[in-house]
Amino acid sequence: MEEQVPPKTVENLRDWRRYWNTWPQQLEQTDFLRQVERTQGGEPANQEQLRLVVEAISGALALGGGDFLVDLCCGNGLVTKQLSPACRRIVGVDYSSTLIDVARRYHAAANVAYLRAAADEIGPERGERRIRRKS
Ligand SMILES: C[S@@+](CC[C@H](N)C(=O)[O-])C[C@H]1O[C@@H](n2cnc3c(N)ncnc32)[C@H](O)[C@@H]1O
Repeated sequence: MEEQVPPKTVENLRDWRRYWNTWPQQLEQTDFLRQVERTQGGEPANQEQLRLVVEAISGALALGGGDFLVDLCCGNGLVTKQLSPACRRIVGVDYSSTLIDVARRYHAAANVAYLRAAADEIGPERGERRIRRKS
């Protein structure tokens, strides 16, 4: 049974893990931008804004074809997937099982793996093991 989205009180907003598990369940499975709250005035960001974000990350990290990338707090993998052509391998990590399910279903690629875990629970070994299993 689906968990109810807690009301947005200050106390409930402190429970971010629960928030990111429940909020996206209220939306269509393909409402990717709203699921990760990439919105402006309540409207989803447009493709050009998303492209600029991806370009800024690739540029700032100077990503190259040999790079192994870990995308902490990857959400539904929208950005992760778009970064994948710029590197060798990429592991998206997020503690929301709802968003990781969406990522695996809609934002898969040959060099991408998704791991459901809290950012402070993983080390390079765990991400590396997961991606090796895929390749
Ligand atoms: C605003 S969304 C951004 C998602 C994605 N990075 C993007 O740019 O589209 C924030 C994400 O961070 C995740 N998150 C927050 N704290 C986390 C933590 N400690 N460990 C893992 N994931 C976390 C949430 O589940 C949520 O998916």
